[in-house]
Amino acid sequence: MSLDLSNRRQLLQQAAACATTLWLPRSAWSQAPRLKTYPFALGVASGSPTHDAVVLWTRLHTTEPFRDDAVTVHWEVAHDEQFKRIVQEGQAQAVRELAHSVHVEVQGLEPDRWYFYRFMLGEAVSATGRTRTFPLPQARTDRLRLGYASCQRWEHGFFSAYRHMRDESLDVLMFLGDYIYEYPGALNAVRKTTGGWVLTLDDYRQRYALYKSDADLQAMHATCPWLVTWDDHEVQNDYAGVHEGHSGNLPGGTVADFLARRAAAYQAHYEHMPLRSSVLTQGLTGLARGAEMRIYGAVRYGQLANLILLDDRQYRDAQACTPQGRPGSGSLDPATCPTWNDASRTLLGKGQEQWLDETLAQWGQGRHQWTVLGQQTAFGQRDFRPGPQQFFWNDGWDGYPAARQRLTQSLQRHRVVNPVVLGGDVHENWVGHVLADYAQPTSARVGVEFCGTSITSRSGGASAEKVAQWLADNPHFVLADTQSKGYGVVEFTPAQLTATLRGVDDVTRPDTQVSTLARFAVQAGRPVLERL
Ligand SMILES: [Fe+2]
Repeated sequence: MSLDLSNRRQLLQQAAACATTLWLPRSAWSQAPRLKTYPFALGVASGSPTHDAVVLWTRLHTTEPFRDDAVTVHWEVAHDEQFKRIVQEGQAQAVRELAHSVHVEVQGLEPDRWYFYRFMLGEAVSATGRTRTFPLPQARTDRLRLGYASCQRWEHGFFSAYRHMRDESLDVLMFLGDYIYEYPGALNAVRKTTGGWVLTLDDYRQRYALYKSDADLQAMHATCPWLVTWDDHEVQNDYAGVHEGHSGNLPGGTVADFLARRAAAYQAHYEHMPLRSSVLTQGLTGLARGAEMRIYGAVRYGQLANLILLDDRQYRDAQACTPQGRPGSGSLDPATCPTWNDASRTLLGKGQEQWLDETLAQWGQGRHQWTVLGQQTAFGQRDFRPGPQQFFWNDGWDGYPAARQRLTQSLQRHRVVNPVVLGGDVHENWVGHVLADYAQPTSARVGVEFCGTSITSRSGGASAEKVAQWLADNPHFVLADTQSKGYGVVEFTPAQLTATLRGVDDVTRPDTQVSTLARFAVQAGRPVLERL
């Protein structure tokens, strides 16, 4: 795989700049290409909301390739679903270099308000999406309904969970990683993927297009804004920072080849998500060297909540002591792995750790009621061996205990208000108390954790007996559910949060129903999980 990266960077910078809002005369968009098929087949989406702005997304995608390098798309934002009361409208360019994706950064909107949006190209009109702005940072806010979801492997099931999620009246959905999977398929696949291993920019684009063709996923994107982070499968299973994983590798590939693959995967991610163009352009200067496409960040939801979204995949050190010296993940015994607790090892990377510490220092003791940390993986310690011996999965925070300790110390040092950690990755529900020091089981509870199950991706499905043993050995966790697929909803009010775990009956059936698996409450000022 060879890319002329400096040329490519230049090209993409120009492309990203022109893909944002343009103010062309209306006549410009009447020269739309004559299309034989509907160009908005991948749906619409919105995301990255603040109190006055939101990103609107679509990607033009037809069966026959566009002849045009750049296509002008018209967009509208309205107060009403009939688009009689237009708030803003404009044109944006969809360019070949960015797979004819469209990212409109609408600014100057009113705070704490719902809007409707759509795109037009010639005679074609996209589906109507619904989105909202957040309340002003200083506004008193009574309620936030936030969903969290992760891990949607196409071939493992239908995305029916999203159809039910549409009825949850969410203000925002946090997507916590594994939006696509790069595998060529699966045994006992519920539905087939197209293509083989996903390795090149074109492969990633095709895989996103496949996932984006799902009607339930499209409908949920059109229901509320999303805040999106990624995990490993957006690039490759178990990759760690600049280190390749060990399945579906590039044949005979070098580190430079992996970084080019990662750069292609990151670009395709941008092309398919409602992200600001600055995410791409600021990161491009370092993309080929393994530096960032910066997707971590923070946003306030009135005085009610600070929402922080982390990236624990891009900057991490390699996993410690994976068996047989393999790259990627595995289980480790800390007694035989001296590097495990090495203080220099990081999961977030030094830059993001410092940013997080500064953000918590600045916001920690603010007047808000809740501090939400959305990230990829299980946070609390999960020792899978009974008795005094320990056995940890090395791909999550358990593989980076010194880094976890720095984070919990940061929470304590800055007296962060009511921390709530959300996670994914493990394809199981884990609910627990965040401890100041997991090496000291009696140490203070500094927050709560809801690690969510997958939308579809399979899990080991451990027996009830095994789960009971895990909980006995890891008493800071109050629930582990290894069977269900679904999502979670957290409703925040100034006085308390209420978390509801929702599970579908059968992920292999498109018409599956959903039910409540468990509900928890946490009172503000007291990090104690109460089962409802
Ligand atoms: Fe996953």
